[in-house]
Amino acid sequence: MRIVCIGGGPAGLYFGLLMKRRHPEHDVTVVERNRPYDTFGWGVVFSDQMVAAIQQADPESAAEIADAFNHWDDIELLFKGQRLRTTGHGFIGIGRKHLLNILQRRCERLGVKLVFDREVESDLEFPDADLIIASDGVNSRIRERYKENFKPDILVRPNRYIWLGTHKLFDAFTFDFRRTEHGWFQAHIYKFDAETSTFIVETTEETFLKHGLDKLDQDASIAFCERVFAETLDGAKLMTNARHLRGSAWLNFSRLTCEKWTHYNGRSHIVLMGDACHTAHFAIGSGTKLALDDAIELADQFDRLGHGKENIEAVLAAYGEARRVGVARVQNAARNAMEWFEVVGHRYADTLEPKQFFYSMLTRSQRISHENVRLRDPVGLAEYERWLAERSGVEVGPDDQPPPPMLTPYAARGVKLANRIVVSPMAMYSAQDGLLNDFHFAHLGARAMGGAALVFAEMTCVSPDARITPGCLGLWSDEQAALWKRLVDLIHSVGHAKAGVQLGHAGRKGATRAPWEGIDQPLERGGWPLISASPLPYLRNSEIPREMTREDMDRVRDDFVAATRRAAGAGVDWLELHCAHGYLLSSFLSPLTNRRTDEYGGAHENRARYPLEVFKAVREAWPEDRPISVRLSCHDWFPGGNTPDDALIFAKMFKAAGADMIDCSSGQVVKEERPVYGRLFQTPFADLIRNEGHIPTIAGGAISEADHANSIIAAGRADLCAIARPHLADPAWTLHEAARIGANIVPWPKQYQSARAQYEANLARAGSVGE
Ligand SMILES: Cc1cc2nc3c(=O)[nH]c(=O)nc-3n(C[C@H](O)[C@H](O)[C@H](O)COP(=O)(O)OP(=O)(O)OC[C@H]3O[C@@H](n4cnc5c(N)ncnc54)[C@H](O)[C@@H]3O)c2cc1C
Ligand SMILES: Cc1cc2nc3c(=O)[nH]c(=O)nc-3n(C[C@H](O)[C@H](O)[C@H](O)COP(=O)(O)O)c2cc1C
Repeated sequence: MRIVCIGGGPAGLYFGLLMKRRHPEHDVTVVERNRPYDTFGWGVVFSDQMVAAIQQADPESAAEIADAFNHWDDIELLFKGQRLRTTGHGFIGIGRKHLLNILQRRCERLGVKLVFDREVESDLEFPDADLIIASDGVNSRIRERYKENFKPDILVRPNRYIWLGTHKLFDAFTFDFRRTEHGWFQAHIYKFDAETSTFIVETTEETFLKHGLDKLDQDASIAFCERVFAETLDGAKLMTNARHLRGSAWLNFSRLTCEKWTHYNGRSHIVLMGDACHTAHFAIGSGTKLALDDAIELADQFDRLGHGKENIEAVLAAYGEARRVGVARVQNAARNAMEWFEVVGHRYADTLEPKQFFYSMLTRSQRISHENVRLRDPVGLAEYERWLAERSGVEVGPDDQPPPPMLTPYAARGVKLANRIVVSPMAMYSAQDGLLNDFHFAHLGARAMGGAALVFAEMTCVSPDARITPGCLGLWSDEQAALWKRLVDLIHSVGHAKAGVQLGHAGRKGATRAPWEGIDQPLERGGWPLISASPLPYLRNSEIPREMTREDMDRVRDDFVAATRRAAGAGVDWLELHCAHGYLLSSFLSPLTNRRTDEYGGAHENRARYPLEVFKAVREAWPEDRPISVRLSCHDWFPGGNTPDDALIFAKMFKAAGADMIDCSSGQVVKEERPVYGRLFQTPFADLIRNEGHIPTIAGGAISEADHANSIIAAGRADLCAIARPHLADPAWTLHEAARIGANIVPWPKQYQSARAQYEANLARAGSVGE
């Protein structure tokens, strides 16, 4: 086979040498526009895992690379005058030049033809090639030439960075944050050889422009960075090796994905590889890893399916199939980390205390969870857990094991929660006339014994016509209130849980059947007239609601107040106002469902006017010493709908009106929504609102393990975690998860004590404690 790699970066060189090594008959050429010793950039970072992969793929070059490695375990944070350190992280740094020179030498030894100083204009310059590797980097000319086929998606990110070096040596991967009069700058610093460290400086576009950095040349920019990081540099100089870049040398990172990775040009098969195909932000340092992994996978597929030309098509198909998931995983982690650095200044640096800021930074990619941090640095994590616990008011004796973050207490007004876990409200559609019955007592009683600190019943409706289905709970009568008192007494009597009510009005989503009889389908018989912000039906076959008049608004507000008083009288500890999921109050907030032209429609302030009126009336009727949370759909997941930025605006309004917390949900506002689900998919909304809106939040949605909850609470991404479906599967979710992580500190109901020791022993035997 004739193989041409266009671009002699890590991807092209490594693929070239692997193919020649595995099948010496191949004719392999790598064409590079630079000379062998010219390259842009300083050091790159590898992980221990990457070392194992290259060791297996080509032990000879791996040995040379290993000799050149600078290994370090520590990460250090310089922040607000503090120096914080953690260990056990296992990084390896190597100069990019050095790495390329090792790969070039290895190519030569194996018989790969290296052509330097040749700028390739087109793949058609190699008409005899059977296989062309487009390894020509992020600005790939080959990808551009066939962009209709590859369908690249390039997203230019807002932050600016400049890639510099220094002769000051750092013994840890160092992150240095400095505040200037116009905003924050951060430096990512790591040593990569005996004399040099990489020093990448990053800031937001706004801060970049305010400092006039767009008008400075490279030398002036370097002088500026030397001033900002003078304390850390301690007299050392910063250097550039990107003299070929004209202008300011401050770049924007481009996040690239491609729909297709391969193309046939009529003579040769072309495959994109490395940065030409996908990029990963330097915040997790995985660009080189992706490039090398691509090369390894493609060579492996040739081994698997055969090294002949006739196999190329099948090999490329198998390669794409095998790589896509792994690439997406790294790109997702890189995106999380990149976004963290994009908002870090105003969201975290100004808000979090240094210790929590450090933890937040360590877990920024969300690939490293609480238990991963523990594996790396058990002592450091225990210290952090102790600090968190003490901050929550727990006294931890010198020999005591601190509680994990999700088991620290939390106080809101006069209510003290034993831990951070909440049974999220879940409609059960099993009531008659809005009355609690045996099902609810059994269902909620079981969850009250399961270890969670706060047990919400389902959305409870403020009038008969506020119900979603005829099976919904209500609080419009004294008979209902009396049963609520019994429920609250039950919850209080069986353990430490507090009782929560979520008051709501279904609005245009009312008068439907129970979901098991047809989700959101209108009742065939016995329905009632619907009201909403605007006369828009939820489904095409739903009843058209009446646009609420001022009279309707008065009545519904008074219904909310009456229900609030009944809940207070029943001893409910916590009230939540349901302003999410397309129900009545939510229908005012979303521009998709609110088309009003009066003072209740249009701008945020108008759309929030009625929900805020209800909130204020409820707040007034609710005892001063008991908290109220507001549940918002923080994303409508539909063009033209609310986004997290809109939710932040509403959250601030509710906070100003006296809300204690925002319960961050999303969607269910319009049927055509296109939500992006995934692990912890709504937690970013809780994080945004908590740390930019400066109001406590509840995170919910696909939080299914203690490790998730611990990571969220420890990083300050939310204050409480609402767990819904896992609590349907396991009423004692909190007890079981606590046992699973070896935190045997949540009291079990005394009647169940005999089960506890056996349960914990079984877990220990199964080896899952602490995993
Ligand atoms: C600031 C910064 C820091 C980074 N830090 C890290 C890190 O710590 N760890 C890490 O793993 N990755 C890091 N990366 C990413 C890493 O540099 C790339 O992901 C990696 O180099 C990709 O390898 P590649 O072979 O695909 O592309 P490249 O390394 O970009 O190689 C492409 C090659 O093609 C050549 N070329 C381009 N066009 C032509 C043409 N028309 N004709 C001939 N030759 C051509 C170029 O000269 C270049 O040599 C960082 C990137 C940046 C910007
Ligand atoms: C059966 C069921 C009923 C629900 N009912 C309500 C409800 O009454 N009020 C509400 O705000 N959310 C309701 N939700 C949403 C949950 O509270 C929660 O936000 C969602 O299920 C995501 O959390 P999870 O991934 O832990 O399940 C319901 C969810 C389920 C599964």
